Amino acid sequence: MDNSESKFTIIRNGEPYTPCFKMLPIIGGNTTGKHRFIMIDENIRSSGCIHYYDDDKRSMFISELNVTDEFRRKGVGTLLIQTLEQMCRYYHASNVYLWVKKDTWAHEWYKRLGYEYLKDHEIEENVIWMVKSLNEE
Ligand SMILES: CC(C)(COP(=O)(O)OP(=O)(O)OC[C@H]1O[C@@H](n2cnc3c(N)ncnc32)[C@H](O)[C@@H]1OP(=O)(O)O)[C@@H](O)C(=O)NCCC(=O)NCCS
Repeated sequence: MDNSESKFTIIRNGEPYTPCFKMLPIIGGNTTGKHRFIMIDENIRSSGCIHYYDDDKRSMFISELNVTDEFRRKGVGTLLIQTLEQMCRYYHASNVYLWVKKDTWAHEWYKRLGYEYLKDHEIEENVIWMVKSLNEE
């Protein structure tokens, strides 16, 4: 994965969408993968990370989704996760994973986005792993 900052154009409703997100490397941090990126839009209203697994370059992990309070419930989070998935595809991942607390609205939201239950989290109580295959779309 190229560690330099790069622009990433996304497609929304069949058209290129601007402002597009930037992908910035974050130095240090996570232990689940070697690469960690944050995505921000031009006004820094939203961010999220994707990680490779060290031993499996076909699987990526999405984490730390965040949309600034005042911009929530306007579809930004959905656009953000769809963009992160698009980046995972760009990096040739076939599966994308995330964690979520069971039986919450976020759990329902991820189900609607195509994520399926994989297994219970090894440590966190009431937290599950979900997975989405990127090959089906
Ligand atoms: C999770 C997060 C990124 C979603 O961003 P967002 O911009 O609000 O997401 P969207 O506007 O695309 O909403 C997606 C759907 O999720 C559901 N949803 C979002 N926030 C919700 C809430 N507070 N209560 C219930 N449902 C909610 C809704 O179904 C919504 O669709 P709708 O508004 O058409 O009904 C944002 O809430 C956030 O930053 N939260 C803080 C971190 C967090 O709570 N993470 C939990 C997920 S792991």
